[in-house]
Amino acid sequence: MSDTSFTRHRRSRYASFSRDMVRETKVGVENLIYPIFVQQDDGTTPIPSLPGIHRYGGTALRHHVHEAAARGIQMIALFPVIDSELKTEDCAEAFDPNNLICRTIKSLKDQTPDMGLLTDVALDPYNPNGQDGFVDPDGTVNNDRTLDALVAQARVLAQAGADVLGPSDMMDGRVGAIRHMLESAGHDRTLILSYAAKYASSLYGPFRDAVGSRGALKGDKKSYQMDPANRSEALREIQTDLEEGADWVMVKPGHTYLDIIRECKTAFDVPTFAYHVSGEYAMWAFAAAAGALDRQASLKEILLSFRRAGADGILTYTAFEAAELL
Ligand code: PBG
Repeated sequence: MSDTSFTRHRRSRYASFSRDMVRETKVGVENLIYPIFVQQDDGTTPIPSLPGIHRYGGTALRHHVHEAAARGIQMIALFPVIDSELKTEDCAEAFDPNNLICRTIKSLKDQTPDMGLLTDVALDPYNPNGQDGFVDPDGTVNNDRTLDALVAQARVLAQAGADVLGPSDMMDGRVGAIRHMLESAGHDRTLILSYAAKYASSLYGPFRDAVGSRGALKGDKKSYQMDPANRSEALREIQTDLEEGADWVMVKPGHTYLDIIRECKTAFDVPTFAYHVSGEYAMWAFAAAAGALDRQASLKEILLSFRRAGADGILTYTAFEAAELL
């Protein structure tokens, strides 16, 4: 240390009162969104590639959502596991107002009306080929034909009572098309949380196991999801979705793309969300289970990193566990 400098960064760090006083970022249960896989049958099914995470159906689902609410979780994301006989090229099941996800939304809104409900808008659960949009005979995922389907899907979800719609398909123009429909159908309070910068990532594998689409997926999603090498393209995607009427925007994956979250927050200063995706969860969960990490300390640190990067909300499979910790 030079004689002339009295700078000692450590002065604030010695005592817990001063560390707590100057802490810049906090994470609370109100920042978490808990994703839940919904199955048709009553009961629970473990997902081997997502240790600790299950699919829930019927009374087991209702019970689990009650427990989540009791822990202070205020928002959940619902992902339906669709029977393979119901998957068709025209994705008709997606537009049926009585499908599994719509029935689930209605029953959860009855039992836990204050729980915020987010649902995906994308065709992949209903498509035998696992793609998020309609596939042309030449194998191309057709953008504009898919838009009409996404609008029809969004309509039944909003009618069923979803509070927040999450277009996760990366078709161009889908946020605007969905927003138009919502306004003209009287759903002017429905939020759009756009998966604005969604990358063609290798970290979605366990999710595809959970919804049974891994084996089904033909080809890849690189013609619509973003190249992991791109940064400024993410900002253009986010800007477009905001212009088209997104209320909130998401970066996905989140933990490996914290730089994009920070840039989004700095550039737009809008509600920004991170999806701590299945592969990122699996990396932590397997390491913690093997004793390589202190489970609770590492979890808190990971969640804090999203907040420090600029995320308001974090969609994370750890939410149920984290809620008890925070
Ligand atoms: C489907 C969808 C995916 C995820 C959320 N919605 C998978 C995909 O795009 O293939 C992945 C989430 C995760 O890995 O946790 N549109």
